[in-house]
Amino acid sequence: MKKIMVVLGTRPEAIKLCPLIRELKQRPAFDVSICSTGQHRAMLDSACAAFSVKPDFDMDVMRTGQTLSDVTARILKKADEILVAEQPDLVLVQGDTTTAFAGALSAFHRRIPIGHIEAGLRTYCIREPFPEEFHRQAISHIADYHFAPTVTAKRNLLREGIPDRSIFITGNTVVDALRITLTEKKPLYQWNLPPDKRVVIFTAHRRESFGEPIRNMLLALRKIVETTPDVLVFFPVHHNPEVRRVAIEILKGVPRIRMLEPPEIVTFHHLLSKAYLVLTDSGGIQEEASALGIPTIVMRYSSERTEGIRAGVLKLAGSGEEGIVSLAQRLLAPNSEDYLAMRKPSAIYGDGNASVRIANILEKEL
Ligand code: UD1
Ligand code: UDP
Repeated sequence: MKKIMVVLGTRPEAIKLCPLIRELKQRPAFDVSICSTGQHRAMLDSACAAFSVKPDFDMDVMRTGQTLSDVTARILKKADEILVAEQPDLVLVQGDTTTAFAGALSAFHRRIPIGHIEAGLRTYCIREPFPEEFHRQAISHIADYHFAPTVTAKRNLLREGIPDRSIFITGNTVVDALRITLTEKKPLYQWNLPPDKRVVIFTAHRRESFGEPIRNMLLALRKIVETTPDVLVFFPVHHNPEVRRVAIEILKGVPRIRMLEPPEIVTFHHLLSKAYLVLTDSGGIQEEASALGIPTIVMRYSSERTEGIRAGVLKLAGSGEEGIVSLAQRLLAPNSEDYLAMRKPSAIYGDGNASVRIANILEKEL
């Protein structure tokens, strides 16, 4: 039996790893343990609970307003102790967070093989997203198994000299998560959505957006609502205090904008599936919206989710107020042909079986 340790710490990692954890735990070939860094607290706990996943180890590193160096240092120290005690045969990390980077680096320091889920995403602008582009490039240098969600991701890795035999195209486990939440689970809460209103979902949380860009995004949202009387906006406000402060300052009291505590994943996916339009800087939401065919304005100048842009479901608007407002107004115009062309579900991020593929590969390779 091979010992696999799955390291996670933030909301998106939990959402994308829980379907895989479920699959790995069903297989007698593996002894699976879950190691949480606790980089997020409420948002991580809520995502794990939705999939009935309970970490075996919890480093509990989150502090209010933590810096990147704080989190990295705390994880490196605590992960090393756990790895020495547990001696797994493989450490699995997902994506590009500090948890993924520091988890992989800790395993590398102890010469433990690393599997990277969602490998090969790139913007090739090292500060966009910040610090995630650096994290994902760095993890690729030390990982042994690269689970690329798409052909594009595999091509990126090959171009960087990663050996072909260590790269596996699997689809993105986020589509597995969507399949579970939308078909197997009941939302904790359902809004009574007025039939005469179009639902718009807005989220923003990236570090490189803090300051002027996030203010511009919020001002754009206010203008969009003021000029389009039939939209109703749901804005789950990320727990980061930087986001909360400015969101309240700019949007408090604006009619038809509902600022919410972030709903748990099952509730959020059900709401997303009913949305007319999404405005976001989130990575995971770009993939989910592409799978569901919900037209999405990406409030960034570049995206590593280039497949969703090519499929036509995502459009980049940058983070300037004017660019966001004019694109939203174009898409919200009556009978907008641009909007209709974007409204098409796409299988580019997978078919909901990525976890099975990854587990099969690990059975063969380990
Ligand atoms: C992190 C990831 C980012 C990912 C995002 C998902 C890094 C560098 N960034 O960014 O890639 O897109 O998670 O949401 O790893 N907080 C809470 N409760 C929570 C979660 C966060 O209070 O449940 C607050 C804390 O004050 C914390 C702050 O948010 O200090 C920032 O959290 P952090 O994980 O450092 O960064 P994120 O912006 O969430
Ligand atoms: N999400 C959620 N509740 C919310 C908003 C988002 O469960 O209120 C989910 C969303 O469906 C997606 C993930 O959180 O799966 C994305 O996380 P986030 O945007 O924080 O991080 P990113 O994907 O940008 O790294």
